[in-house]
Amino acid sequence: MAEITIPKHDKNRIFSGIQPSGDLHLGNYLGALHQFVDLQNDDQNECIYCVVDMHAITVPQDPKMLRKRIYDLTALYLACGVDPKKSILFVQSEVPAHAELGWIMTCSSYTGELSRMTQFKSKSQGRESVPSGLFVYPTLMAADILLYDADEVPVGTDQTQHIELTRDLANRINNTRGETFILPKGRYLKEGARIMALDDPSKKMSKSAPNPMSRISLMDDEKTVKKAIMRATTDSDGEIRFDPENKPGVSNLMNIYSVLSGESLDSLESMYRGKGYGDFKKDLVSVVNGALQPIRTRFEEIRESSELIDILEDGAEKASAIANPVLARVKERFGMGLGTK
Ligand code: TYM
Repeated sequence: MAEITIPKHDKNRIFSGIQPSGDLHLGNYLGALHQFVDLQNDDQNECIYCVVDMHAITVPQDPKMLRKRIYDLTALYLACGVDPKKSILFVQSEVPAHAELGWIMTCSSYTGELSRMTQFKSKSQGRESVPSGLFVYPTLMAADILLYDADEVPVGTDQTQHIELTRDLANRINNTRGETFILPKGRYLKEGARIMALDDPSKKMSKSAPNPMSRISLMDDEKTVKKAIMRATTDSDGEIRFDPENKPGVSNLMNIYSVLSGESLDSLESMYRGKGYGDFKKDLVSVVNGALQPIRTRFEEIRESSELIDILEDGAEKASAIANPVLARVKERFGMGLGTK
């Protein structure tokens, strides 16, 4: 067998992905996209961002709609500030190494650990028959990350368990077959890591909640944003104070305000001391619309541009150049294929 070493990369390598499965909301923006752009703009980092269409087909998708959503999500990445000159942006299924390593990771996992994933449990709840893809979803996510020797993975805290599984699988393979993978770490933004539903702050903001007023979609117009925020659940004591346990609704709105405005939670408390929820919410409407309006405008411009395909083709080429040697390293460790000459 060939001698195997993990080549060092100079910069801090960042990898993350988003599913093209419908309108993105403020939780996706604050937990993920907002971090993606900040990380990309720091010279220390080398960023790789993915449209994870293979994850999207773990539930049935209309083909025309899925294709549209792939381009929509690409345009949204760009509209939010992901710059293809600085970051690699690509579609998962355009780099076949994801499917190959995904299979290897599936074979390296146990059904027990996959059935403990809370996201799987909640998505499969109440179904008579559960698609297998939903079950092995986290092994494909592990492959996504490990394929790039990623150091850090910016995500919301709903993905923590998946990142832990990725580390467990990488460790298992390193221990049984020799050093193969770099162990990645999750990267969570303090205030944006878990944005809660506006109508029920005990649940996370999600694409699939039936009440559209539970979330703010990045494409919502100003009026809809205003309506959702003014109706957001708070409490009866009228004080703007960060206390997620006793005041989850207000604390959630403060988190949103803080990330979008750059004001700390402490400074929000002093700014609104003696003022009521009405004033606070009105200002929050301006902060949210102020942040989303330019994204919506850029999205409309970029979505029509023919450059999207070029950007994604170029991204897939650059991603493959990193992923293919890592896959070859893993196949060597497993003794798969013909081996390196
Ligand atoms: P997805 O598409 O469900 O969500 C995309 C990103 O948004 C974050 N997020 C939130 N953050 C804060 N508050 C919320 N309410 C909220 N809702 C969603 C998610 O944590 C995520 O960062 N499995 C992933 C996609 C994926 C991936 C990967 C991510 C596939 N392969 C490799 C990182 C690395 C998912 O379904 O995200």
